[in-house]
Order: sequence, then structure tokens, then C-alpha cells
Amino acid sequence: CGIVGYVGPRSAQDTVIDGLRRLEYRGYDSAGVAVVRDGLLAVEKRAGKLANLEKVLIEAPLPRADIGIGHTRWATHGPPNDVNAHPHAGGARRVALVHNGIIENFVELRGRVEADDHVLLSETDTEIVAHLVELQVQSGVDIVTAMQRVCQQLDGAFTLVAIDSHEPDKIVAARRNSPLVVGLGDGENFLGSDVAAFIEFTREALELGQDQIVVMTRDEVLVTDFWGNPVQARQFHVDWDLSAAEKDGHDWFMRKEIFEQPRAVADSLIGRRTAAGKLQLDEMRLADEELRDIDKIIIIACGTSFYAGMVAKYAIEHWTRTPVEVELASEFRYRDPIIDATTLIVAISQSGETADTLQAIRHARSQKAKVLAICNTNGSSIPRESDAVIYTHAGPEIGVASTKGFLTQLVACYLLALYMAQVKGTRFGDEIDEVMRQLEAMPDHIDKVLQGAEQVYELARSHVGSRSVLFLGRHAGYPVALEGALKLKELAYIHAEGFAAGELKHGPIALVEDGLPVLCVVPPRGRDHLHDKMVSGIQEVRARGAHTICLAEEGDTSIEPYADHLIRLPGVPVLLQPLVAIVPLQLFACELATALGHDVDQPRNLAKSVTVE
Ligand code: G6P
Repeated sequence: CGIVGYVGPRSAQDTVIDGLRRLEYRGYDSAGVAVVRDGLLAVEKRAGKLANLEKVLIEAPLPRADIGIGHTRWATHGPPNDVNAHPHAGGARRVALVHNGIIENFVELRGRVEADDHVLLSETDTEIVAHLVELQVQSGVDIVTAMQRVCQQLDGAFTLVAIDSHEPDKIVAARRNSPLVVGLGDGENFLGSDVAAFIEFTREALELGQDQIVVMTRDEVLVTDFWGNPVQARQFHVDWDLSAAEKDGHDWFMRKEIFEQPRAVADSLIGRRTAAGKLQLDEMRLADEELRDIDKIIIIACGTSFYAGMVAKYAIEHWTRTPVEVELASEFRYRDPIIDATTLIVAISQSGETADTLQAIRHARSQKAKVLAICNTNGSSIPRESDAVIYTHAGPEIGVASTKGFLTQLVACYLLALYMAQVKGTRFGDEIDEVMRQLEAMPDHIDKVLQGAEQVYELARSHVGSRSVLFLGRHAGYPVALEGALKLKELAYIHAEGFAAGELKHGPIALVEDGLPVLCVVPPRGRDHLHDKMVSGIQEVRARGAHTICLAEEGDTSIEPYADHLIRLPGVPVLLQPLVAIVPLQLFACELATALGHDVDQPRNLAKSVTVE
């Protein structure tokens, strides 16, 4: 998750470790460094915190060298241990390589590498790339050509940084999607996943574009495309301090994470379809026969993850016709739930460590139920104790209030629903294809919503005096209303409630008074009467003095007479609408809390992962 490279007169080992330390905030579960000295590669790597690696290096430092690369890893393929940690070397230990991102076609590439009698030591996609690059240099080409040729074969998102012990004056790096910046020094140059890695040494930087390769010596930096054609990279001056640099120029990690959502959603969709277009869930260790036998699903989770589970219920029941219950993990085992071997428990947890959820799955397994985890943290307790897992690829989430974790959980839930529909035969190939296409378009839609952030910020700042805010939604928009209200409670400490809009008239409407802000998630216009019923609900609260803020799809003019404020959403199917509808609500809560002077990343009384029941 953090990448560092250095070439210059300082100690490569120490400069790389310094850079990794400044990238620690990005979250990681193992760390490593490689240097080249006298034509030989030296590599050290350790699971756990950087301190583990540093301890080993104090006892046995790597040889003093002018070139080095380093990495902090957030496990995606294979658990966080010493062997899976980066850098990875090729079979002849000539090339060392670190990598961020996910190589989508790694199964096919592994086949190629293994067919060549290469022995792979780790479970990572990265080691395969190290072998591929080494094969190229051994065939006689230089490291730059080798990197170009390998990049041309890779699918997915990646940043790669490699050194070749036979060319000890240069580092070569490639970028597709995952970030990478070059720090321009005087007689030295740096690489980092962000500028925090080298801000202490230089504030002049180059931003690499999509599908670009950079070759770096002490005195020269050359940027090309994957075919070796020179390209112009954007040079910029960093005038942030270190803390802003860590947040990529944002004031809060949470805000940075909100803006990372298009990428996180795209990453969570990578590699989910076979060449023939069939849906595949790589890490899913449940056999199709077992899934076919499932006649009931119970989703258990806490907090934001629980709301992702509520959306999942709509999707799974619709696409698979399998009944789904959604239960708060803390309540689940105390109500004597009816579960047996044909029940599938789906445990959703960003951290994988929430004690309530962990205890609930232990109880479920003791009753013979199968447990599938949806989790963002490779190797954490919940996936370890489950029968199967679907990992989300949000990357580490640092803000206590979950944002990109939530969106990627939604993606995993949709994938699970579609996969079960495929296995159970309740939906046909082209229907599944169509939804996958719609899902693959979501990163662009989310991006569009983010482009309207300023309008939401203004709205939020105009609400600093509000003492209570209501959120209304229907269908998949109902959990969005609950999650929107939760965000506001967590961050702004303002009383906020989410309601199913149809339930309003059965009680909550008594709360409505003059000027009360009511945020309404309007479903897309469709054949059923969902949209129109929502509009009626909005009219009802407005007639009683509420100040209505409506989130409605573009082109929906029917809402205009009843909206005091209108936020436009891209037109998407109702089941997928939560992926776009929650984004303005996250921005709203983040900005309102900022305007009130609260600590958005660490709200009072809350913890990122609650490991007590
Ligand atoms: C804590 C956090 C919430 C989170 C919940 C569940 O309460 O403050 O933001 O939604 O735990 O966390 P999990 O890691 O299990 O998804």
C-alpha cells in the first residue's frame, strides 16, 4: 500500500525506511526493503509493523547502497506474512520488485510462469510479475524494455517498481491506476505512492499518468509510455505540510476516502468475470453445490456494515428468490435464531475484528450454518473463522466513520447476489451481464456525484444551526437514509433519524415542524409506484413546514415543485442507487462536522473497530 524508491548518495536502506515510516498512515500489515550493492540483491521483509523490520535491520543491516526500493503491504492475495511481504525477487534473485494494486489476469500469468518450471514461494500476484520481469532481463534486454514488455501483458490496476542487480544505477517504475509520484532532488531522486514519502527531502514532484513508465538515475528522470515513447509528465511544487501530504491535500482522511470511492469500487470489481463472461468469485471457498442447497440467508453486521446488509437483502431476494434476514450482530445470538446446515450466514465487517460480529459467527457455526465473510482486511479474525470470504478492495480505511468501506461492501453484496443467481439459475447470463455492466459504470457515476461536492458543502455549511435532521428513503434508499443519518450523528453530533418514507405517517411525521431539514432519497422513476409514493411523502412533510433537500436522478422534474433544495444523482437502477445516493450524504456530514469544528477522523466516543462486546 506504500511504495518508496530512492537513488542517490544517502544510505538507500535508511532513506527507504524513512519514506515507509511517513507512509505508515496508509495502513499496512507487512513491510520490506531491497537494495543493490556490488551486483547483488539484498532483501529484508517482515510481517507486522515497520518496527519488526527495523529491529532485524539494526541487528543485520543491508549493505550500504545508493539504490533501494521499499514497500508496506496491505494484503490482498494471500495473508500478511513474511513470505508474502514485498519486495519479491525473481527465481535467479536478479530482479526485485514491489507492487501496489491488483493484477487481474494473474491466474493465467501464474500458469505461464509455472509452466516454465519457476517455483513460486509466495501466494502473491506480485511474485509472478517479478519472475516475468526477470525472465525478460535474462533473455538479454535491459530492465526498462523488460518492464515495458511485462506491463503490456498485465490487466488490472498496478504500480510496479523494480531494480535489476545488473543495472545498479537505475530504478524503473510503471503506473496504471494505482498512484505513483516522483520526487526530484539534486543528484538524487525519489519515488513514492504519495509525496509524503519524500517531502522532507524535496518539494518538486512529477505526477505519473496512466500507463506510464519512469526510469530514474541519480541525475535523470525519463518518462515514457508502455511502448517506450517519451511523454510529458506533470511537474508540480508541493506546498503542503506533511500532515496535508498524507491526506493528499485533503483536510481529513475521511474526505480523502470519500474521493477514493470511484477507485475503490472499480478495484472491488476487478477480476470478477472469466474470459467467457461468467461471474467468478476467486476467494469464495464454498462449492456451487453447497450454495445451491442454501434455502435461507441471514446477514449479520454492525453499524455501517449493517446498512450494507440491508441493501443486500433487496438485491439477494430480488435476484435469487432466497429469503434473507438482516440482523444486528449484537442481537443475533441472544434471540435463539433458527439456523441449520442449509442456512448461509453472511457476516459483513470492514475491519474483520468487530467482537459482536465475531461472536455471532461463532454461534452460527456451532449450529452448523455455513459462514461467508465480506471483509476489507485480509487475514483478520472474521474471514479466518469463516467458511468462505469475499474480500472488498477499498484499501485501508483510516477515518473512523466508514465511507469507501461501505461502498465496496455494497459491491461485494451485489456480486454475491449475482453469483448465487448464476449458481441457482434464477437469473440468466445476459441479465447478469447487464447488471455487471451497470456496476462497471458506477465508478464514473460516483465521480460525477463527487464533482458536485461544492454544492453539497455549501448546503452543509448553511445547516450549522440545525439541531435535528431527518432522512427519508424507500426500498434500497431506506438503508441509505439510515446510513446518512448515522454519518451525521457520528460526525456532527446532531440528532438525526432515518425513516422508511412510507412509515412516516405512522408516527414520525409528528416530529416535523417549521424549518426542520428533511433529506429525501428519491428512487429512480420506474414502473412501480415507488417514486410517486416517495414524492407524496415529500409533499406531506413539506406541507407541515419541513425544509426538503431532495436527492433525485437527473431529468426527474416531478420533484422540483417540492424540493427546497435539489441534489442531482446520475440515473441508475434502483437496486444500485445506494452507490451514488450515499455520497452526497457522506459529503454533507463531513462538511457540517468540519464547519462545527469537530474532529472528523476521530469522532468522540467512537472506535474504528470495536473489539469488545
Ligand atoms: C464501529 C465503527 C463503525 C463501523 C462498525 C462496524 O462501530 O465506528 O464505523 O461501521 O464498527 O465495523 P466493521 O469493521 O465490523 O464493519
